[in-house]
Amino acid sequence: MVCFSSVTAGSSLGSWVSSAGGSTSVLSAVVSSEVSVSLMERMMRGWCRMGDRHARDVKATEEKLCIDEGEASRNKAMPRDQTTRTTMIMNCLATKAISTIRPAFTRGIHATTTSTAKVAVLGAAGGIGQPLSLLCKLSPEVDELSCYDIVGTPGVAADLSHIPSKSSTLGRLPSPVKWPMGPNEGLKETLEGADVVVIPAGVPRKPGMTRDDLFNTNASIVKTLVEGCAQFCPDAMIAVISNPVNSTVPIAAEVLKKAGVYNPKKLAGVTTLDVCRANTFVANSQGWDPKDVDVTVIGGHAGITILPLFSRVNGAKFTDEELEALTVRTQFGGDEVVAAKAGAGSATLSMAYAGFVFAENVLKALRGEEVTQCAFVESSLTEAPYFASPVKFGKNGVEEILPLGELSAYEKQWLDKMMPELKKQIQKGIDFVNK
Ligand code: LMR
Repeated sequence: MVCFSSVTAGSSLGSWVSSAGGSTSVLSAVVSSEVSVSLMERMMRGWCRMGDRHARDVKATEEKLCIDEGEASRNKAMPRDQTTRTTMIMNCLATKAISTIRPAFTRGIHATTTSTAKVAVLGAAGGIGQPLSLLCKLSPEVDELSCYDIVGTPGVAADLSHIPSKSSTLGRLPSPVKWPMGPNEGLKETLEGADVVVIPAGVPRKPGMTRDDLFNTNASIVKTLVEGCAQFCPDAMIAVISNPVNSTVPIAAEVLKKAGVYNPKKLAGVTTLDVCRANTFVANSQGWDPKDVDVTVIGGHAGITILPLFSRVNGAKFTDEELEALTVRTQFGGDEVVAAKAGAGSATLSMAYAGFVFAENVLKALRGEEVTQCAFVESSLTEAPYFASPVKFGKNGVEEILPLGELSAYEKQWLDKMMPELKKQIQKGIDFVNK
């Protein structure tokens, strides 16, 4: 896992260590400049302590670092000239510091690039999966990208692999059925070592359908894929995009519970597109830049279960009619896209963007940054066992579900209205696994 939790300290230290590279020439140049020697010494000792702390379990640094600056200055062979003496002392300190810091720092980099940032996309050849995989391939947070689908992933991965970004790219299909039955090697390879699994797999809506109408097909798809997660990456954060999210997240939870690996901190439904839509619509209505807006959207991810809290948007002014129109447009933004696509599916590009924002935020949180974003998670904020609200993510996934705070009378009325619907859709997911 990440050793140097402070990115700033880590990177400046890293560039210093690598530029010094074990030689002391850089340091000598620094010392002969105007920099105060005692300041340099203090910095060196600080770095040594830092390296020591983070390298505790590195065999090479088990021996306690002991800098005896007096030893060098007491040495009779020391030159009298102050600049040369100072340079020698600092060179001695630098050599010790570098040998201490480098193993720990290298371990930090190695861990970050090889084990803490693997993203698996399940359904990667689909309408959401392809642009989502592209965005992941471009992200500096991703070191390994694993694409899995029932068709097309070798091509998707080959295509993505020509993009000059740091992540490696793997494309896998389910392994052919054989006898005796063994594990799905394609899914196994995709999932092993994954930190975040994003699931957009499944069929999209056609005009006139609700998300719930997708249940019969997508429920089994999600169930099968999450069974794979339970087997091959039980500690990964699972981010569910497949609709109906209000039911597929409980399905995933029940599957994980049956496998004995359920951790509510590591499962979330992606509701980020509702936030994106609310931000865009409110910014347009106020003549603002959408990037300056962050609307809290609570509830679930289907029709009236989506509730944007526009009363909390500082400085926004709307009439009651405008507020109603914005609320309903956010709730039914998905339907707007389904209608415009006229039978060719539902939102893919904006959903891929939203899924990527969510996944990238989770990756940042897993490596130590604190991130707050709305997500549909197991929750005790309301009478619904799963609920979307602002959630603090950290190294362990969901760290804290923030309190809902005061809702306006208008919002309260929507919350009451959504509750039976939301609870019914959640129960449907739970029953599907336990029938
Ligand atoms: C969306 O919000 O656009 C997605 O959930 C897809 C859909 O069916 O509306």
